[in-house]
Parts: sequence; C-alpha cells; structure tokens
Amino acid sequence: MAKILVTGGCGFIGSHTIVDLIENGYDVISVDNNSRSDASILDGVEKITGQKVKNYKVDLCNFDDTHAIFQENTDIDGIIHFAAYKAVGESVDRPIMYYENNLNSLLNVLKCVRDFDIPYFVFSSSCTVYGNPDKIPVTESTPTKPAESPYGATKQMGEQILQDVAKVFDTQIISLRYFNPVGAHPSIEIGELPIGRPQNLVPAITQTAIGKLPGMKVHGADYDTRDGSCLRDYIHVSDIAHAHTLAIKFLQEQKNSSNYEIFNLGTGNGVTVLEAIQSFEKVSGVKLNYEIGPRRPGDVIAIYANNDYAVKNLGWEIKYGLDDMMRTAWLWEEKLKEKEAAKN
Ligand code: WQD
Repeated sequence: MAKILVTGGCGFIGSHTIVDLIENGYDVISVDNNSRSDASILDGVEKITGQKVKNYKVDLCNFDDTHAIFQENTDIDGIIHFAAYKAVGESVDRPIMYYENNLNSLLNVLKCVRDFDIPYFVFSSSCTVYGNPDKIPVTESTPTKPAESPYGATKQMGEQILQDVAKVFDTQIISLRYFNPVGAHPSIEIGELPIGRPQNLVPAITQTAIGKLPGMKVHGADYDTRDGSCLRDYIHVSDIAHAHTLAIKFLQEQKNSSNYEIFNLGTGNGVTVLEAIQSFEKVSGVKLNYEIGPRRPGDVIAIYANNDYAVKNLGWEIKYGLDDMMRTAWLWEEKLKEKEAAKN
C-alpha cells in the first residue's frame, strides 16, 4: 500500500484529500502545526473512513523537526504539500510572514524529498498565479501575470522552485492550480473551519445566513461582467480532493510526459457572486442579508478554468454542481452550530 505524507492535513482541502486517498487504498500520515487548523478535523476523517490518521504537529519551517518525520517514516512514496498561509488580504498586510512561512516550509520539505529520494510530489497551487487574465477561460499555458498579492506571489515562486528542482531531482512533480474550493464532504463530517471573520465568499454567506455575522457585503457590482459582480470558478472541495488522488496515480503509472506538469482544477463554469448567492438562497431557503459594497482591492474581475487537460489526462470527472456546493456548505454550517450549542 503506497504511503502518502500530506502536509497541512488538518486543513480544509488537506483533510478532504486524506479522506479520498484512504478511500482509494492509500496509507496516509499528516503533518500540520495547527497554527491555522484544528486537529479535531481528523476525528471527522476517522468517522468517514474508519481510519485514525497520525498527525505530526510540526512546523515545517523547522528543518530538523521536518527531517525527523522522514527518518521515522522511510517508506513515504509521495508527498502532497498543502501547508501554507492562504489569506490574500492578510498577505498584503504581512508580506514577510507569508514569504517566510510559505517558502521556507516548501524548501524544507524539498530538502527532505532530495535527502530521502521521494518519488512523487504534488503541490497545492492556485489560479491566483494567473492574476487578472486577458482572456478567459484560462488554460495551463495562459501566461501568468504579476501576482495581485504576496500570497499569490508565493504560489508563483513555489511553482518556479519546483520547475527548477524537477530538472535535477528524479522526483516526478505536479502543480495543481485550484480555482475556488468550496462546500463540505457529503457526509457533513468535515468541512471548512475559517479562523476569525471569513474572507472567502462561501463561509461569509453561510455565517451570515446562520446569524454568526450580522450581514455581508458584495464587494462591487459595477464590474464588466454579466451582472456586475466578480466571476469565479467555484469547485466542490471533494472534486478537488479526488484530483489529488488521481494526480498521484498518474505519476505512479508514469503517464506524465515530463517530470514537472501543471493542471487547472476548476469546473470550467464561471459563476458570479450574485449567482452564487442566488444558488445558496435556493438550496437553503434562507434569504441572505447582504448589500452591495465597494470593490475589494486586489480582486480579480473574472476568471474560470479550461480544465480539459486535467479531465483528459487525469481521468478527472466533476461530480458536484453549484447547488451541491452551497447545500453541503450550508449543512456543514448548521452542524457547526449544533456542535457549538452542544458544548454550551
Ligand atoms: C470570491 C469573490 C470577492 C467575500 C482566494 C484566493 C484563492 C483561493 C480562494 C486559496 C470575490 C467576493 C468575498 C465577501 C464578496 N485561496 N466576496 N464578499 O479572492 O477569488 O480567491 O480564495 O486557495 O487562491 O485568491 O476568493 O472567496 O475571497 O472571493 O463579495 O464577503 O467573492 O470580492 O469577488 P478569491 P474569495
């Protein structure tokens, strides 16, 4: 049974990917310092899979501690590297923290990839690397533009580092460019756990609807889009998770044409903020309390994916639509409220 090390395994996409890996016959260990996540999410993973996943509570910016994990686990076949800070707005306010954390952790893991000759490495990248594209949908060969934030810059630099490393390592490497991961596992045992006031759209919607937030703002409705609000490619987190399993399989079966490949992980459908809100109201039956506010600095106006390369080469099939994303996100928010009430 191949063994996969998932960094950031207690995070939103990391935990959903661990579920999918286990369901596809992989042995999984996690490393996560829980600075931006909660280890209890692995209890949910256990409820779904029946497997207790070991998490090493280690800061990947500490090389010795990171190296010790590989010394203890000499049978790691592949790594999926999620661990990073990812709040766009925060990265603008705290650039050094973002460059230090996101790049040092990646470099430490790559030193271990070198030292222990790990065969496969999958990197969590982002559509942010495209900046504000001139033409949509974007393909993997759409030129990247200057990042709109230090967060986006760390993803662009991460991809550049991997491209250079792939030239000298035997390791086979893939970067997966996520569009906007949303929703929760259909079991509603795991989901997104934003820390503090959510920056991202869907948790802002569900927290407003459940009453955790008094209301929310649509950041601008005067853009050149079909209804004036920004356009994104929202994709269910479980579809994103399964693509990671398929990426590892793709490398194991040596289907890659080069030892550094990039895949867009989006549905191929563009959805505006107002359309996302309409979908939420439809599936939840809740009228959302929102108003149109000013534009958010750094926002991309419109982007969505051409996902042909991933669909064709990874054999990736999108299972969930926008309503499923909103429905599972809402059911998860309701579950969080029940858990909160049970605690008090
Ligand atoms: C989506 C749209 C907002 C909140 C970022 C990262 C990306 C990925 C996902 C990590 C925008 C609007 C939001 C609100 C709103 N992160 N919005 N009111 O900025 O597209 O992408 O998060 O993988 O890499 O760049 O996502 O959900 O923040 O915003 O109107 O209260 O929703 O302005 O148009 P974004 P988002």
